[in-house]
Amino acid sequence: MYDLLIKNGKVVTPVSVYTADVAVQGEKIAAIGTNFGEAKKCVDAAGKYVLPGAIDAHTHLAMPFGGTVSSDGYGAGTRAAACGGTTTVFDYAPQIKGCGIVESVEKRHKMAEKEACVDYAFHCYVTDMMGGKLLDEWPDIIQYGVTSIKCFTVYKKEKMMVTDGEIVQILQKGKETGMMTNVHCENPDVIDLNTERFLKEGKTSAWYHYLSRPEFVEAEADKRVIHWAKSLNAPVYIVHLANKEGMEEVTRAKDEGYPVYAETCPQYLHFTCDVYKRADGRNFICSPPMKGQESQDALWAGIQRGDIDTIATDHCPFQSYEKDWGKDDFTKVPNGCAGIENMFPYMLAAANSGRITFSKAVELCCANPARIFGCPSKGLLEAGRDADIVLYDPEKDFTISQKNMHSDSDHTIWEGTKLHGYPVQTYSRGRLVYDNEKFVGEYGWGKFLRREPHQA
Ligand code: URP
Ligand code: ZN
Ligand code: ZN
Repeated sequence: MYDLLIKNGKVVTPVSVYTADVAVQGEKIAAIGTNFGEAKKCVDAAGKYVLPGAIDAHTHLAMPFGGTVSSDGYGAGTRAAACGGTTTVFDYAPQIKGCGIVESVEKRHKMAEKEACVDYAFHCYVTDMMGGKLLDEWPDIIQYGVTSIKCFTVYKKEKMMVTDGEIVQILQKGKETGMMTNVHCENPDVIDLNTERFLKEGKTSAWYHYLSRPEFVEAEADKRVIHWAKSLNAPVYIVHLANKEGMEEVTRAKDEGYPVYAETCPQYLHFTCDVYKRADGRNFICSPPMKGQESQDALWAGIQRGDIDTIATDHCPFQSYEKDWGKDDFTKVPNGCAGIENMFPYMLAAANSGRITFSKAVELCCANPARIFGCPSKGLLEAGRDADIVLYDPEKDFTISQKNMHSDSDHTIWEGTKLHGYPVQTYSRGRLVYDNEKFVGEYGWGKFLRREPHQA
């Protein structure tokens, strides 16, 4: 007898939607079909969609940044994830200067294993090449189960920037070892130049955050990084792509057959740079900033064409008082916004309204991140995979508010956004962790997900 039977739901795969029962044994999906007989627990999913749990491949939990630390740790962040139908979170572990990557990730692993409510994996971001010695560690990092590394082309004064030459070395090493290179692309010198000028001219509102990093500042860096990756035929993953020209460059590289992948985030699909003109514009400050309407349209078109591979959140919340540090100087606002609970509901609402299909939402939020980042146990409803399952009610109306979110953040940029359709249950490896707007999971339940090297 199965432990759990989710009956009569519309099961969503990246290629189809069909009515079936999902049988769970222990932590795994045992079978999908009909006429399974009795089970220890039955859930009637008639009229609901049954989906794989989402993977958020881009978060910054307890991240040191801008003189503070992002306000969701591993407990609060993964709790919020569960309540938004996300069952796997990939966090960016900072490389501690002077330490190797494995040592740096281990510290984060220890923090997460006590707190996490859903499964988690790590990318690590490079802050110290250790005179080139760092690259020798790649096989050990892969052995540890971390198969992607991030480089920032920006954040010079935060000492997180990696030079162009170092990125090229990292790409080359990634090609040799199966390590994916993730890159945050913006031009640091142009940002510094613009910022200095605006501050001198007394132009200090959030709007000047956008004007210091407009479309071409990101596009130029996207193009350079993609150019290097193409010249080496190395896999590269562009994080939080937000601009039209960058999108075009990704499309070109894909059409030419290169292993170039792109991620965008719901905030770039929903908001434009106009948010920075609002009185609370500083709450929307993140990098890259939201862009103009043309860029947003290009991202949606990229999704339709299949040139955007994944949706992730870049969840990196800071409290209002921290955002207020930059009330009179946009450079003092810690960069980042909350979003971990909003990604899957937002993309599924886009499916429910007909803008994309439910299969497309599953491809972007579940199947593709699992495939690109080496997680064969995740991302699909399939016998043998983890029973990470979301039940979605297409008739439920939900208005996002800080009050009904489950993060520790005291505000949300999504306040007042109305969604038609909403997740009603989330299972993490067969365990119910979210039930009708309530978190019912357990801190420490989440397991470290050891990943496989990237295969082109
Ligand atoms: O503004 C952002 N995105 N903050 C988090 C760090 C990053 O750039 O990904
Ligand atoms: Zn970034
Ligand atoms: Zn980020």
